[in-house]
Amino acid sequence: MSQPEIHILNTPDDLFHEAATEFVSLARDAVQSKGKFTVALSGGSTPKSLYTLLASGTIPKIPWDKIYFFFGDERHVPPDHPESNYRMAYEALLSKIPQPHVFRVPTEEKDADAAARAYEQSIRKFFDLKPGEIPRFNLVLLGLGPDGHTASLFPGSSALQEQTRLVVANWVEKFKTYRITITLPVLNHAACDMFLVSGADKATIVHEVLENPQADLPSQKVHPEDGRLVWLLDRAAAGALSPVTTSRGSRSPA
Ligand code: 6PG
Repeated sequence: MSQPEIHILNTPDDLFHEAATEFVSLARDAVQSKGKFTVALSGGSTPKSLYTLLASGTIPKIPWDKIYFFFGDERHVPPDHPESNYRMAYEALLSKIPQPHVFRVPTEEKDADAAARAYEQSIRKFFDLKPGEIPRFNLVLLGLGPDGHTASLFPGSSALQEQTRLVVANWVEKFKTYRITITLPVLNHAACDMFLVSGADKATIVHEVLENPQADLPSQKVHPEDGRLVWLLDRAAAGALSPVTTSRGSRSPA
C-alpha cells in the first residue's frame, strides 16, 4: 500500500495545471505501454476547471483517440439534467474532443440498481473481465465532500461494505436519493487514485482525512494495493494541515 503523495499548490490555477500535467503524462505513458488510457472522471464542481483546461488546446499532443472515459459516480438523473456529472463533463470536455470514447452511467434507467448493474456490465465487457475480476483503471479522479465522502461513497452508506460488485446504487439518506458509484475494490485496484481538492471550505475535512486516522471516513478507505495515491490540494484546502504535512507537500506546478 503506497504512501499518499500530497502536493500543495499555491493557487487553484496552479492546482488545475498540476492536475492536467499529471493527467497527460499518465495518458501518454499508458498509451505508450498499453495502447490505451482508461480514466474514471469525478463529478461535483471542482474538476470542471481541469476538464476545461484539458479541452482548451493549450496542452499539446493529448492522445484523445486512445483515451477511454468512464465515471466514478453519477447522480440518478437524466444525462441532460443540471446535476448530471456526465453533462458537466460533456460540456467542459467531452463535447470538445474529436470522437471521444465515453462510457457513461445509463441513468435513463428508472431503477437505480438496474442502471448500476448495466454500468458494471459495460465495464466488465470493456476490460474483458472474468467473474470475480476487478478492472484496473489507469487513473481515477476523485473529489472530497465536506463529510469525507468521495465518489458517492458517503459515511454510513451501504456501498462502503461492498466487496464484490464494481458499481452499486447507493442510497444517500441526506439527499433522499440514490447515487450510482464505483466501489472500494475498484478504487483500490486502480493504478492511480488522484484527489483534487480546492478551497478553504475543505480545509477542515482535508485535515481530518490526512491527519486523523481515527476519523474512519470513506475517503480514508482509498488505498490502492499496487498504485499511486495522489492528493492535489491548493493552499486554501491545505490550510489546516500541520507544518509537517505542508512542508512535505509544497510544490509549484511542473
Ligand atoms: C459528486 C462527486 C462527489 C464530489 C464531492 C466534492 O457526484 O458530487 O463525485 O464525490 O467529488 O462531493 O464535490 P465538489 O467538488 O463540488 O466540492
